[in-house]
Amino acid sequence: MSHRSELIASDIDAFLAQHQHKSLLRFITCGSVDDGKSTLIGRLLYDSQLLFDDQLAAVQKDSQRWGTQGAAPDLALLVDGLAAEREQGITIDVAYRYFSTERRKFIVADTPGHEQYTRNMVTGASTADLAVILIDARKGVLTQTRRHSFLVHLLGVTQVVLAVNKMDLVGWDDAVFHRIDADFRAYAAQLGLADIVSIPLSALDGDNVISRSPRMPWYSGPTLLEQLETCPLDETRLQAGPLRLPVQWVNRPGPDFRAYCGLIASGSVRPGELLRAQPSGRQARVARIVTTDGDLPLAVAGQSVALTLDAEIDISRGDMLSAATAPAEVADQFECTLVWMGDDPMLPGRPYRLKIGARTVGASFTAIKHEINVNTLEHLAAPKLALNGIAVCNLALDAAVPFDAYRELRETGGFIVIDRITLNTVGAGMLHFALRRAHNIALQPLDVGRADRAALMRQTPRCVWLTGLSGAGKSTLANLLQSTLHAQGRHVYVLDGDNLRHGLNRDLGFTAADRVENVRRTAEVARLMVDAGLIVIVSLISPYRAERRLARELFAPGDFVEVFVDAPLQECERRDTKGLYAKARRGELKNFTGIDSPYEPPEAPELHLDTTAWPPADGVARIVELLG
Ligand code: ADX
Repeated sequence: MSHRSELIASDIDAFLAQHQHKSLLRFITCGSVDDGKSTLIGRLLYDSQLLFDDQLAAVQKDSQRWGTQGAAPDLALLVDGLAAEREQGITIDVAYRYFSTERRKFIVADTPGHEQYTRNMVTGASTADLAVILIDARKGVLTQTRRHSFLVHLLGVTQVVLAVNKMDLVGWDDAVFHRIDADFRAYAAQLGLADIVSIPLSALDGDNVISRSPRMPWYSGPTLLEQLETCPLDETRLQAGPLRLPVQWVNRPGPDFRAYCGLIASGSVRPGELLRAQPSGRQARVARIVTTDGDLPLAVAGQSVALTLDAEIDISRGDMLSAATAPAEVADQFECTLVWMGDDPMLPGRPYRLKIGARTVGASFTAIKHEINVNTLEHLAAPKLALNGIAVCNLALDAAVPFDAYRELRETGGFIVIDRITLNTVGAGMLHFALRRAHNIALQPLDVGRADRAALMRQTPRCVWLTGLSGAGKSTLANLLQSTLHAQGRHVYVLDGDNLRHGLNRDLGFTAADRVENVRRTAEVARLMVDAGLIVIVSLISPYRAERRLARELFAPGDFVEVFVDAPLQECERRDTKGLYAKARRGELKNFTGIDSPYEPPEAPELHLDTTAWPPADGVARIVELLG
């Protein structure tokens, strides 16, 4: 019987106590099945002989708890991400495995290695202390190795073990190992990754995994398990940081009791301490730290707590409680690194949802500063970011949020990006810093407002948004609608796609990215005109749902009237008033809507006008009726 089993048999409490005080290493393995990753993990788990049934049960209970509300300290980002995914009915293929040895406990995030699974890696690495990067000794450093190393570095993992596997297949040759080690270090040095331990091993045979291999006497470094058991761990880092408590929910069991609950992401808190609620900036002192087992005198990073305060200040879910002396920054524009995981590319200007801490806000990337080639680390100009792309971008949010630079605090500086329509997680990123603009530009209050102007014009300002294929009849309708309203004495203006493209939007073409910007700009101008008191008719193909929704959200409910000007493609092509369809069919015009560029029909427009069934005058009459 091993020492461990004896202890379990004779004194389970002593065993658990010993177990509890062991340090915990979280690590991630990067590599593909072909590299021998599953074999390696299997060997670690099997040879280190853990996962006793009772331990397993305890761990499973833990993981269930993490899945709901509380979470281990630095798993906050991860669990938030996972919770978001779960709410959306999507699974992330990251398997967390638990094992322990006499010296340490381990959580290993096992992520699939295919290139398209960047998402899983990002999820796994965002909480890891160390990364094991696997290499097949026969293949050496591959693009995938560089990509994994780059992501690991981006995500703030500083310790790397380069596991050069399948040494048996290269005859246990030290020259092969040293060449791979040198190749890897050359690349890693460019990234600034310096803490690298390379280990030659054979996962299949177990050489240098747990015990030293007699077949590679030339290697004198640690075995993989030794390295995992002894690598330095800064367990106090999080607790020593400034207090950050993202409020996950507010508990209001009675009128006099309000507790702010969440997981402490960083720092510690005691009763009597002055806290700042962010973004509002209001301050109050901690009255009690409540738990089901009674009040606590102190709570630290990693604990889920419920705090009560000595004053009623308005705090809601998604806000952050910070140390008043060391609060987070608050901003709505940032520079960030973005890792794209969506099948559809990221287009600057397109609206997304962004989840940071316990808060979800509307967001768009206003510019791609440069994309990064992970092989060469070159900076490339890019109009959009495709699946697996990594870029430095500017980011604008609908609301100011509290944050820390990711480099300072992973827990409050990381975010995930969610598609607004499919609700898939399409990106993950790290905030670098706030752009100064956010601090320096405030809205100027003005004395004369929209209502005053509208009253003077004696009308209700509106935006009538005509969307549809080229040739569907938008311009005809816009023209007739304007004449009709003008004749009634209304103040009206037409924003027509073709016309705007001669001036304001002269710099834009017909790529997806340019159309997004075309629609965004036009929508902003329409908003100004509605604010000025006008009835604005916008006539724009506006092919994407996401941007039409963005346009709608710029207006107060009821002010935006979406009209789907509908005619079948064959009919538009038959009409071909500008001869453009013929040109597109001949291949002389690229990205033509309906031919080689998509049109996403509206799902719930205020009005659906079939222009093959309704003559323009009737269509106009229906719109006028709708405007009231
Ligand atoms: S949008 O897609 O960005 O909303 P917009 O309405 O401004 O397009 O411009 C469409 C007009 O530009 C069409 O009516 C057509 O006359 C012209 N045009 C030229 N090239 C294209 C193209 N590739 N796709 C669609 N329209 C084009």
